[in-house]
Amino acid sequence: MIIHEFDVIVVGAGGAGLRATLGTVEKGLKTACLTKVFPTRSHTVAAQGGISAALGNMGEDDWRFHFYDTVKGSDWLGDQDAIEYMCREAIPAVIELEHYGVPFSRTADGKIYQRAFGGMTTHYGEGQAQRTCAAADKTGHAILHTLYQQALKHHAEFFVEYIVLDLVMENGECRGVIAWCLDDGSLHLFKAHATILATGGYGRTYFSCTSAHTVTGDGNAMVLRAGLPLQDMEFIQFHPTGIYGAGCLITEGARGEGGYLTNSEGERFMERYAPTAKDLASRDVVSRAMTMEIHAGRGVGELKDHLYLHLEHLPPALLHERLPGISETARIFAGVDVTKQPIPVLPTVHYNMGGIPTNYHAEVVTLDGENPDSVVKSLMAIGEAACVSVHGANRLGSNSLLDLVVFGRAAALRCAELIAPNQPHSDLNPEHYAEALARFEKIRNANGDSKTAEIRSAMQKTMQSKAAVFRTQSTLDDGVTEMKSVRESFENLGLTDRSLIWNTDLVEALELDNLLSQATVAIHAAANRHESRGGHAREDYPLRDDENWLKHTLTWLQKDEVKIDYRPVHLYTLTDEVEMIAPKARVY
Ligand code: FUM
Repeated sequence: MIIHEFDVIVVGAGGAGLRATLGTVEKGLKTACLTKVFPTRSHTVAAQGGISAALGNMGEDDWRFHFYDTVKGSDWLGDQDAIEYMCREAIPAVIELEHYGVPFSRTADGKIYQRAFGGMTTHYGEGQAQRTCAAADKTGHAILHTLYQQALKHHAEFFVEYIVLDLVMENGECRGVIAWCLDDGSLHLFKAHATILATGGYGRTYFSCTSAHTVTGDGNAMVLRAGLPLQDMEFIQFHPTGIYGAGCLITEGARGEGGYLTNSEGERFMERYAPTAKDLASRDVVSRAMTMEIHAGRGVGELKDHLYLHLEHLPPALLHERLPGISETARIFAGVDVTKQPIPVLPTVHYNMGGIPTNYHAEVVTLDGENPDSVVKSLMAIGEAACVSVHGANRLGSNSLLDLVVFGRAAALRCAELIAPNQPHSDLNPEHYAEALARFEKIRNANGDSKTAEIRSAMQKTMQSKAAVFRTQSTLDDGVTEMKSVRESFENLGLTDRSLIWNTDLVEALELDNLLSQATVAIHAAANRHESRGGHAREDYPLRDDENWLKHTLTWLQKDEVKIDYRPVHLYTLTDEVEMIAPKARVY
């Protein structure tokens, strides 16, 4: 076991992880960033449409309008203190990115270009905002590369292709992590005064998703194994426009630039479901409308199981300048020339609103007796891994890149407040990581009959069919039962490669173990929530029920049992600069 000592460890090198890494080294803290893929291959690279901030470059805007849209978009489940922090900080955070060197697209007078995105309005729902700052349709790529270059410039230390196995917890405090180096097979103990999880979502619990194959929510699973809860795991976002069959993302920016959806009758059906916002209603609304069209027999194609997204009416020069990435993706994955033909699309799993509960300083919190906001010492979470919760039950497009940079920065600021550089580390008894090593060895030596790919496929099919856009008690209860037996089948796993060097068979098995625990708590939480809200649409409970369900779900995994409890939603703001927006009727 090779032992390292750092002030801060960041696990994950996507947008959130890199922003936190950069922020902590800028503050003089000795920071290690551990990542299972090369930093610029992290999934943030796939983010397309942009990052929201009320800069007002393309028309009137105000961070308070952004605040209102985010609270409403969250279907009132978002924590309003954190939402105020994010929307207010959005403006300096994006300007800071510009100064770091992000090559944003520009207006004719040289300002950052901003496009329309779903649910982003002015004057509290009155007008359509242009708030999403874009670098063509490759905004995540531009941000990720810039942050990585800045982190290198500030001499951050990267441990690349290190698989973090587990948190090391001592008396409720996080002391660091245990990791496996793929390159030489060595095992490492990283001790730190703060551990920041920036490990992304769990999109790969589903069969069809826009997430990379690496998006396996490893940090979330570590938190469950540490005996801590995850929050709001039932809220899973379907992006309206995944390419039919392939699942690849076609940015909402396509509709922001004037694209629209049609059914088999050539009808612009969104006009019926959301007469004002139409194709730019929030994602939960558009995904449900598309699913209803398909269920009503108005889908397109031989099987009538998808819909069309039209861009062919837009000028080719605009497509070339603003949407070059998705034009290429549509050509490769759907065989479509977007200047001439519509793209076949289908709602596809895209984002997890749930994750590790935190406050707006990025500190992990848990329910401790009567205290719902009890801070877990020395443990933080940011980005899609975290549930701050700024997205509540449904995230607005382009609020994710924003969440990454605002809370990546917030985590770094908090570390700088709490940690003086180069403080000594106390001894750590190996008993605190013995269980983590035993789990690793058990999986490495697994000699049953089931293959990782078979178990993964069973899990993904269960989630796809039983925790879909529309849910009922009976499908969810079936899902709970099926997932129990899928998870049990992991006990019969068999691996053939037992080596420690670049054993991708073992990596996939470890990732599957992580996915299975998250799929289990997610489907239990969905079966437990008897209302419809945001990304959780129940056919048997079609209405939002604030009286009984205006609360965050907490789920613990205790051996094979899922325990459920709740935290209150923060229905208060940080300052009185925004009036408290009380829950009110759903109006689209
Ligand atoms: O549609 C998109 O470009 C995705 C953006 C997002 O999820 O924020």
